[in-house]
Amino acid sequence: MRLRKEAVDMIKEICNRYKDEPSPLMLVLSDVQKEYGYIPLEVQEIISNELNIPVSDIYGVVTFYSFFSLTPKGRYVIGVCIGTACYVKGGQNVLDKFSELLKIKPGQTTEDGLFTLDGLRCIGACGIAPAIQINGKVYPKVKLADIPKIIQEYRDKEME
Ligand code: FES
Repeated sequence: MRLRKEAVDMIKEICNRYKDEPSPLMLVLSDVQKEYGYIPLEVQEIISNELNIPVSDIYGVVTFYSFFSLTPKGRYVIGVCIGTACYVKGGQNVLDKFSELLKIKPGQTTEDGLFTLDGLRCIGACGIAPAIQINGKVYPKVKLADIPKIIQEYRDKEME
């Protein structure tokens, strides 16, 4: 894949922003993830050249932290909490149900680009476990029977 010139310029500009920091890599990767949406190999190569850091080191960081992504995210990112409080209230079953209905594994995106599914650590909503969030909106005490409705809500949005 060849990157468009504007994308290359944007990534170089982000690298420039932080290149005098003592450890610029995390700062650069966070901004690239936010502004470009994901960090594929082509983007890692530019960052590597700009910051003089081997691509293998960058790849290691991108794949270690789940908030960095190598592939584009879907329009709706479904984060299912599987932190301790949610886990004991059935968070894993909630994640499995989304996985089954969307036919993707955690970390994957549906072919139509609509949904990305992620398992998350505690999202700070333990009192209303099991909790999920979709593009930042939190859903409390999610029951397996609610899940088809929740997915449909977002499919319907696309039809509006
Ligand atoms: S463990 Fe799920 S919100 Fe805290």
